Amino acid sequence: MPKHFLMCPPEYFTVEYAINPWMRPEDGADRDVALRQWEGLKSAYEELGHEVSLIDPIEGLPDMVFAANGATVVGGRVYGARFAFPQRGPEGPAYLRWFAERGYPTKEAEHVNEGEGDFLTLDDVILAGTGFRTHLVAHQEAQEYLGRPVISLTLVDPRFYHLDTALFSLDGKNVAYYPGAFSAGSLEVLRRLFPDAVLATAEDAEVLGLNAVSDGTNVLVNAEATALQLELKRRGYEVIPLDLSELRKAGGGPKCCTLEIRGENS
Ligand code: ARG
Repeated sequence: MPKHFLMCPPEYFTVEYAINPWMRPEDGADRDVALRQWEGLKSAYEELGHEVSLIDPIEGLPDMVFAANGATVVGGRVYGARFAFPQRGPEGPAYLRWFAERGYPTKEAEHVNEGEGDFLTLDDVILAGTGFRTHLVAHQEAQEYLGRPVISLTLVDPRFYHLDTALFSLDGKNVAYYPGAFSAGSLEVLRRLFPDAVLATAEDAEVLGLNAVSDGTNVLVNAEATALQLELKRRGYEVIPLDLSELRKAGGGPKCCTLEIRGENS
């Protein structure tokens, strides 16, 4: 099943503030390298037959390349993002406008939430992260608007500040995750829901290996996450390793650059 993704070219990408432990403004980032790596991700999607739409980047919003944070789109409904840090504040309305202009029903969020960074949609439930960015009340707001059961998970390691830095969906039914990112209770929930999950190592997590995108057959994953790739292959997945090292300097990987647009029948 081809997917539809929204991406934002990193034309204004820099690391000029620090809102997560990966970001070191004193080291900066190379925009041309970031653009090339981002193009690699975009072409990988297109070669797999997925559709990629683009939103225009806005000058002065260096993190706007991380489209995953722009909204949560489920069943054709768009639940807007409300960012935790003022530096990214204007991104929420910009993404919501993109959808509204294209006729999607949209809802402006009352509560702080960073879109698909913290809301990961599986076939039957939405897994929702909290602890660093998205507020717990936003989980309820999302459930009410999207009409899917939302399961709250608490993140405890600041390096894994969004749920999508610690967990990804393999096929809508099963997931891969890094246990060290979760509170004890959330870990119990994950073990109960996904007894057959792929458990990633600390080394995989530390290169943002969990910030991967799977279409159920192919998994696009940071190249440095070697143990994770082996395990995915062992389970029969086609692994597509990517170099997004420049974007990692802002704390992002393949999934962060990708907002999935789930249509009415999804
Ligand atoms: N610098 C961005 C931030 O800290 C990175 C966002 C990464 N996005 C994600 N979906 N994890 O907000």
